[in-house]
Amino acid sequence: MASGCRAAAQPDIAVPPLKSLAPYRVGTCAMTGQLDDAGWTRLALTHFNQITPEWEMKMEYILTPDGYRFDAPDRIASWCDSHGMALHGTTLIWYSQGEEAFRGLSRADYGQRFDRYIAAVAGRYAGRVRGWDVVNEAVAEDGVGLRSHHWSQNLGDIDHMRRAFDQAKQADPDAVLFLNDYNLENNPRKGATFLKLVEQLLKAGAPVGGIGSQSHLNIEIPEGRISAFIHEAAQFGLPLHISELDASRRREGGPPDVRSVSFRSRQQFDRVKELTDAYSRLPEQQRYGLTLWGVRDTDSWLRRPPHDDGRDSPLAFDASGQPTTVARALSESWLRSQ
Ligand code: G3I
Repeated sequence: MASGCRAAAQPDIAVPPLKSLAPYRVGTCAMTGQLDDAGWTRLALTHFNQITPEWEMKMEYILTPDGYRFDAPDRIASWCDSHGMALHGTTLIWYSQGEEAFRGLSRADYGQRFDRYIAAVAGRYAGRVRGWDVVNEAVAEDGVGLRSHHWSQNLGDIDHMRRAFDQAKQADPDAVLFLNDYNLENNPRKGATFLKLVEQLLKAGAPVGGIGSQSHLNIEIPEGRISAFIHEAAQFGLPLHISELDASRRREGGPPDVRSVSFRSRQQFDRVKELTDAYSRLPEQQRYGLTLWGVRDTDSWLRRPPHDDGRDSPLAFDASGQPTTVARALSESWLRSQ
């Protein structure tokens, strides 16, 4: 029987610690509330060796009307220090955050607040984060051109990004500085636009040090798209971070979903294994790490309103901590690549 179907039929096979199988860092995301959850911490400490704060290191948490708020990201950074976990920061500049806090400023004050925010945040964690998503989701949703938003409208399409990378470099010269985006495998046009942007930023002198592909996989895409994007992205010779991997079994929109669970499990297994196989084939210096966007299925953003259908299994462990199809695809890929 195909291993993916076997995986769906036998949900109680244990997998070795994922971090012990991978030849590179295996991360997950975290929020402070989870650090007090015994089930979450047991799985996180067993299987992962890198943490990305899910939201508390972003502008939406740190930038308040009274100034900067660092209690939560500091706690996550300290937790990582005390548990020997690497820390990856997301995100310094994101189109979806900051507009309110920067509204009404003169061009000069806007630019100064932009620079000071990055200097303050990247400077605070200098030497503690391995890398930063400096600019997140710069490419238009449909992959045609760049997003237009308050950062680009006030500081320029390319200029605001180069400025962000320059500020981050000054604040933390040793951090790997990423341009991060999603649907790069799912939508080849978006992936191509993203890689053109990487080239444009590098030519403009921006210290882009890494490429982040969020990899919220659409498991219905044809075989080969994922490995094709990873192959293309590798051409820059930069570290690549699979930064937010999950593989939803749900279909957002479109025709009624008549796929059986075992069929979806097969699709999920095949796409996650394709991603992991392709990523593991990269040269060692380009394998920054593979981060799952959550530990248990019920920790996933995809199991929160408005996405939740109460059944999705996008991550490596189910609600009770049992390995899922995603865990088997990862472990089977890593065991075969050893
Ligand atoms: O925990 C608080 C809760 O105490 C409070 O009552 C509630 C209402 O304010 O907010 C809760 O925090 C929310 C948090 O998720 C935890 O659920 C934040 O408001 C909410 O903004 C935050 O959303 C995060 C989102 O990014 C925006 O930062 C999600 O957790 C996170 O999974 C999601 O991650 C993004 C990546 O950064 C970029 N790629 C897509 C990915 C999924 O959307």
